[in-house]
Amino acid sequence: MSDKNFKRHTITAALPYTNGPVHIGHLAGVYVPADIYARYLKSKGEDVLFVCGSDEHGVAITLRAKKEGVSPKEIVDKYHTLIKDSFDKFGIDFDIYSRTSSELHRETSSEFFKKLYHDGAFEERTSEQYYDEESKMFLADRYIIGTCPNCGYDAAYGDQCEKCGSSLSPSELIEPKSALSGDKPVLKETKHWFLPMQDYENWLKQWILEEHKEWKPNVYGQCKSWLDNGLNPRAMTRDLDWGVPVPVEGAEGKVLYVWFDAPIGYISATKEWANQQNKDWEPYWKDENTRLLHFIGKDNIVFHCIIFPSILKAEGSYVLPDNVPANEFLNLEGNKISTSKNWAVWLHEFLEEMPGKEDVLRYVLCANAPETKDNDFTWKDFQARNNSELVAILGNFINRALVLTNKYYEGSIPERGELFDIDKDVLEKLKKSPEKVSAALDKFKFREGLIEFMDLARVGNKYLAETEPWKLQKENPDRVKTIMNIALQIAANITIIGEPFLPKSMDKLIAMLGIQKHKWAQAGNQDILPAGHRINKPTLLFEKVEDETVQQQVEKLENTKKSNKMEDTSDIVGMKDEINFDDFMKMDMRVGTVLDAVKMPKSKKLLKLTIDTGIDKRTILSGISEHFSPEEVIGKQVTVLVNLAPRKMMGEMSEGMVLMAEDKEGKLKFIQPSESVNPGATIS
Ligand code: MF3
Ligand code: ZN
Repeated sequence: MSDKNFKRHTITAALPYTNGPVHIGHLAGVYVPADIYARYLKSKGEDVLFVCGSDEHGVAITLRAKKEGVSPKEIVDKYHTLIKDSFDKFGIDFDIYSRTSSELHRETSSEFFKKLYHDGAFEERTSEQYYDEESKMFLADRYIIGTCPNCGYDAAYGDQCEKCGSSLSPSELIEPKSALSGDKPVLKETKHWFLPMQDYENWLKQWILEEHKEWKPNVYGQCKSWLDNGLNPRAMTRDLDWGVPVPVEGAEGKVLYVWFDAPIGYISATKEWANQQNKDWEPYWKDENTRLLHFIGKDNIVFHCIIFPSILKAEGSYVLPDNVPANEFLNLEGNKISTSKNWAVWLHEFLEEMPGKEDVLRYVLCANAPETKDNDFTWKDFQARNNSELVAILGNFINRALVLTNKYYEGSIPERGELFDIDKDVLEKLKKSPEKVSAALDKFKFREGLIEFMDLARVGNKYLAETEPWKLQKENPDRVKTIMNIALQIAANITIIGEPFLPKSMDKLIAMLGIQKHKWAQAGNQDILPAGHRINKPTLLFEKVEDETVQQQVEKLENTKKSNKMEDTSDIVGMKDEINFDDFMKMDMRVGTVLDAVKMPKSKKLLKLTIDTGIDKRTILSGISEHFSPEEVIGKQVTVLVNLAPRKMMGEMSEGMVLMAEDKEGKLKFIQPSESVNPGATIS
């Protein structure tokens, strides 16, 4: 924390886009650390407001809606509910989870825009932009595809070529096409309001590079590189019919740029919360003794460190973020998490498939948090950390302490007697533990904080393992009393120190110990539990994760991988791994003639084809039924992969594959010789 003595903390967690569910990467990068931090400060008795909500505007949502054939409103309603519920179940304890489609947000963000507009903070500019006449919309750079002027790749995006990596502008593309309609877009004049970022450059350099050297190196480094490269004006409005309408004259059909309105969503959320609580929202944003913190992923750094602060600065009456502890990315089993490829562990699915394991996931994601570099989540690691850390150390310690207390003293806490070195040593470690966790959390080092917390459980576990009270009870019951008292004090401390990390399990432990929730100030206290206090019967805090459970998850991912491979053929952007000539020569492809075709009963997709391959007449099941009627295909010449291993589909053997061309829209066409040939003609 900066040296300043802050009076209150406004903690924001990035507002997730409601164009899909949230996954473990979101949790690890943003919401788990933010929640740990907010809980920790609240436990310390600080005045904390923890806000989040749904980011419901932007072009990604309109495209998702188009794809699903529903309205954007339906999309955001669906995912808002799903995401909010997931966060809730993982114990992410927001004080408010709002949404940017609310009336209050529309009002707040338009007022904000109007203020800047009237203050002359924007430059009005007219420029030519690509417009899709069929879809009747201006195209965001991502939705223009064409040939890269640098490397000739024919599926480069309007903002970047993914093949050679060069950054582009749509006008540089050769033969640009709309990703929406496939048509050639036309240039059309349009007016927008720009924030002259270059005017903020010197101020930003001073404020970040000089005054916030304590920011995490990944954050500071990214800011420095943006600032070193020089800033350019950025449009704060867009031509789109989904968003907050631009509240000035001559802006019909335009909305606020999603990165203008979304961060203001933090402010609208604060207002909503204040209304609910009958409080004043303004101190949480305008009092100079308020500490503003943004928890985000690395792809949001420029918006939270450079653009939003400039917007706040332009407005003039707001505080600026004191820190932006952004994380890097979490990968999954060695591959980048990808929503479009379904390469993710979705939170709503985890909740269904692994009920009661919410804290385990929090634990594993924190232990592996991508704090300084990208990190990898694997199911094997999930299992190992659960079984050998949560179960074998924390769970085992708590269980032993509570079971023995029930057994020896009917649940009543015994008195402590004479202390030996080992006891003093353990009590000393107990006393020091909260400072160590604090020191880490204060620096946003959540992994380190978790390790320090687990160290306390480890100390307790080792203490019982070494003193072996179960062997002493007969001869030396007084000694056992002392040991058990100390073990129980540790257990009680664990409820406090562990709460930010494992809130549900600590609630459970609190109930088992029959105590109240204690504040952080009590942590380190060696006498939290008075002798004579009665605890309850314990249940297991954590249970072993079996091999089969993990195996199922791994298989699920393997299936995703397989279906991705199939999709790759239809994806004009992706290319498969390189193969050698021998690989190619293994394929036996021939021209065949379709003799007969019937629909497969009970299948929407499959046609059952009888094909003359020149070698034989065989049955091939082909997933083309939604594209062609049986009559259309009978008599056609097609390309057949004849040496593909036979596969059973819907109870019927399929011997080979009919090759099809699939375009981006998913339309299928046969691959045919340009002139008729005899069946069996080979292809190479
Ligand atoms: N929706 C953005 C994302 O998921 C994050 C928005 S954060 C806010 O990347 F500041 F705009 F709210
Ligand atoms: Zn290129």
